[in-house]
Amino acid sequence: MPTKVLIVDYSWSGSTAKMATALQRVTGATRVTLTVPAGTFPNDMYATSDVANQQLASGDLPKLTNALPDLTLFDTILVGGPVWSAKVATPVRSFLRQLTNFTGTVAPFYTDAGTPGGYEADFAGLIPQANVVAGIGMTAGDLATADQQLPAWWANFK
Ligand SMILES: Cc1cc2nc3c(=O)[nH]c(=O)nc-3n(C[C@H](O)[C@H](O)[C@H](O)COP(=O)(O)O)c2cc1C
Repeated sequence: MPTKVLIVDYSWSGSTAKMATALQRVTGATRVTLTVPAGTFPNDMYATSDVANQQLASGDLPKLTNALPDLTLFDTILVGGPVWSAKVATPVRSFLRQLTNFTGTVAPFYTDAGTPGGYEADFAGLIPQANVVAGIGMTAGDLATADQQLPAWWANFK
């Protein structure tokens, strides 16, 4: 069982935050929630998708406004976010840029509307130096049973 575990999560509309809360209950890990400046994303999903696509095209990812702990203190980081166009959401990409020297274990957890596509491959490709292990995805409908489903995934880390 890893001893120094950090949960990092970003949520645009609340679902991944719920999953992160359940994961916190299951793991007892320290948690950091990623935030971006107010107004970075519109309230509309399609307009948000347009903004995110512009950020991806320009490489100008959103700034994170939360404090981050010293990441070298952790051996395992569980990184949560929503699936955006079958890819890692741009605020989570901003965080992964902080992990370019991290060689510990990193696992993605994510929520989606049923079509995560190549999310995990996209995630792993952003931090090739890390030990990226198989993640877990849930839809909003799965969240009611997150407390039952997450322990089996977490057991893989033992
Ligand atoms: C910009 C954007 C793009 C999305 N793209 C996908 C997608 O490719 N596949 C999918 O299944 N759901 C997609 N969704 C739905 C979200 O992944 C899903 O609602 C997720 O649970 C939201 O998590 P959150 O509440 O933590 O933001 C998208 C949502 C947004 C806002």
